[in-house]
Amino acid sequence: MYICLEGIDGSGKSTQLECLGKWLEKCGFAVTRIREPTDSIVGQLIRKMLQSPSAQDESFQRTLALLFAADRTLLMDTIHKEEEMNRIVLSDRSFYSSLAYQNGEEWIDQINHYALKPDLVILLDLETETAISRCEGKDNFEEKDFLDKVRKKYLKLAKQHDFMVVNANNGVNKVHADIKRIVAPKLGMCI
Ligand code: TYD
Repeated sequence: MYICLEGIDGSGKSTQLECLGKWLEKCGFAVTRIREPTDSIVGQLIRKMLQSPSAQDESFQRTLALLFAADRTLLMDTIHKEEEMNRIVLSDRSFYSSLAYQNGEEWIDQINHYALKPDLVILLDLETETAISRCEGKDNFEEKDFLDKVRKKYLKLAKQHDFMVVNANNGVNKVHADIKRIVAPKLGMCI
C-alpha cells in the first residue's frame, strides 16, 4: 500500500509521517519512508532551485513542474519494488503536490503520465497563517498569497480525488490519532 500525506508547507507532514511510521512498525508492518522532492540528483537540483528568489515565477514554476515529474518517474521503480515486498510505502508528498503547487492541470497530468497515484491520500489542512508561523523565514505577504492559493487547490483536489482531510490545527497527538483512525481500517485493523 502506498500512503501519502499532503498539505501546504508547515502543515506538519514530516512529523505526522514519522509518528505514523513508528506506529505501523509497532503494529508489525514493514514500512518504507519516501519524500518528494527525493534525494536523487534531480531532487537535489529541485531543492537548490527552490531557494531561488524567483521560485514562484511562472516560467520557473513550469521548469520545476518538469523536474518534479522527472524526479517522480525515478521513484516509480522504488515504490513498485517496496510494494512487491509487502512493505507499506509512506510518502511525504506525491503527484498531487504538483497539481496543488504548479499551474496547468491538464499539462501537469500529461507530464506525470508515469507517476504512481497513492492508494490513500491524507490531506493535513490548516489556516495558512498558522502554517506560515511554523515555517522559519517564510513570513512575507507573497508567500501567504501563494500558499492561500495552494491550500484552496488542495481542498478542491480533496473533493475530486477522495482525499481524507484531517484538521492539522489540533496538536500532534490529536492529529496522529485522527490519521490512525483513517489508516487502520485500510489495513484491516481495529483501533
Ligand atoms: P517540502 O515537503 O516542504 O520539503 P522539505 O520540508 O523537505 O523542504 O517540499 C519542498 C517544496 O516543494 C514545498 O514548498 C512544496 C514544493 N513542491 C512543489 O511545488 N511541487 C511538487 O510536486 C512537490 C513534490 C513539492
